[in-house]
Amino acid sequence: MSTARLTEILAAARGAGVGVGAFNVISIEHAEALTAGAEQAGTPVVLQISENAVKYHQALRPIGLATLAIAEAASVPVVVHLDHATRPELVSEAVELGFGSVMFDASVLDYDANVAATAAVVAQCHAAGVDVEAEIGEVGGKDGVHAPGARTRPDEAAAFAAATGVDALAVAVGSSHAMTERTSKLDLDLIGEISAAVPVPLVLHGSSGVPDDEIARAVRAGMTKINIATHLNVVFTDEVRARLGADAQLVDTRKYLGPARDAVAAEVARLLTLLRAPADPLG
Ligand code: G3H
Ligand code: ZN
Repeated sequence: MSTARLTEILAAARGAGVGVGAFNVISIEHAEALTAGAEQAGTPVVLQISENAVKYHQALRPIGLATLAIAEAASVPVVVHLDHATRPELVSEAVELGFGSVMFDASVLDYDANVAATAAVVAQCHAAGVDVEAEIGEVGGKDGVHAPGARTRPDEAAAFAAATGVDALAVAVGSSHAMTERTSKLDLDLIGEISAAVPVPLVLHGSSGVPDDEIARAVRAGMTKINIATHLNVVFTDEVRARLGADAQLVDTRKYLGPARDAVAAEVARLLTLLRAPADPLG
């Protein structure tokens, strides 16, 4: 199967009132695990590579091409997406490599500068057939400090979407990046208000800190793309730690990375199933 378009997957999900899981790739094992999890669940998935992951590898091309190859071999629709890009030249490289979509994150800029920078990226990407996500109202925690207090205004979100032409919009509604405990409370009324005001699908960043039932409520309130990264690294690392702790002689990396990959795949399948059927957990 060829890689999928973000706009198609998100439009179908929004129309059906369900969510789409978007998970971060750091190593090739992540890309394999996320794809295997989506195949187990029988759902589409977004594999996203962040600018921070590119810094870690000191290049986009090797991990990007590996992720694209894994996505192309999948039996379910897979979008390969650039996440939290702040450098337009990194966006250009992702477009050249064949990514289906990018998130351009100019949310630290003031409103007018964010609009101008994002609109330029949208024009460039749309000319190449690539979809664009952007952010308005900075979701906290990207600097490693939990900051759940930021909020996006519905009127500003609607104006931003219209002025930039973005295909998906990340908004601040109470989540915060890089949480290792799932204790966030979201502003569900605000999600509903933004969803009613904005014609493009909404993106929840920092979803690792959001418990299952609150994720389900967020989807029902109007969130479509649900970004989860740290939680899966907790799952991966717990498994590695357990395997190494159980056998001090273990040196074959496949013997602990393989089980960690399997554990992430199982958790991805569980999360994707939750997103497809966000039934009211209270009945
Ligand atoms: O863009 C990626 C996500 O917002 C992931 O955030 O690591 O807090 O789940 P998280
Ligand atoms: Zn994010």
